[in-house]
Amino acid sequence: MIAPEVGHRGVPAASATRGRIIIAVDGPAAAGKGTLARRLATTLALPYLDTGLLYRAVGRRVLDAGGDPRDVPAALAAAAALQVSDFARADLRDPVADMAATAVAAIADLRAALLGFQRSFGGAQGAVLDGRDIGTVVFPDARAKLFVTASAEERARRRQAELVARGVAADYAQVLSEIRDRDAQDENRPVSPLRPAADAMLLDTTALDADGAFARAMQLLAPHIVDEALLRKA
Ligand code: CDP
Repeated sequence: MIAPEVGHRGVPAASATRGRIIIAVDGPAAAGKGTLARRLATTLALPYLDTGLLYRAVGRRVLDAGGDPRDVPAALAAAAALQVSDFARADLRDPVADMAATAVAAIADLRAALLGFQRSFGGAQGAVLDGRDIGTVVFPDARAKLFVTASAEERARRRQAELVARGVAADYAQVLSEIRDRDAQDENRPVSPLRPAADAMLLDTTALDADGAFARAMQLLAPHIVDEALLRKA
């Protein structure tokens, strides 16, 4: 379903965002990026892409085939076989899928294969995308970039609550340890490591609820996009 984009590995596409409203929302695991990005997209009438789902769906397929998510040919074969139905699976957010996603996400050729789809998402209008490398690699010239963080303890508390609400048994200490482990893998991988873009606006949500994070994000974004996006919506 997703065609590999040859020759574009990590290379910024200079005019990829011309005339488009691209909002990049990056940050570590369970920082609240998804909740925030979805709400921004609705408010600004832009399409929303959760790029983590791409890596989750690939990781899941590799596990289903009995493979190792660190195995390059296995991950590339899984990406080439992706179908729309892969993104609707109920088990994409289970802890085992978290770890598989983080493992496949360290593969340079896989990231390259998923780049074209992300860059074309939303077409001429633009989009809100959340992930780890949207502001640094996918859209270095995004209209506005948010880097959303929270303390590891607060993120673990939120992720545990999410899992429990879905009926998945989750031990706080284990969730915290897995979050720290995934952060370390995302930050230390050679390809597209997790880090704020130089021009990203930092948003620490440790002491903010979802409404507070949204309000602060709208304040930060206002000078960059809000009037124009709201005018387009009207
Ligand atoms: O929801 P959570 O923040 O825990 O994870 P996610 O955003 O769904 O991403 C799952 C994994 O995919 C991350 O740990 C990253 O390793 C990887 N990922 C990435 O490398 N680049 C992205 N743009 C999005 C996700």
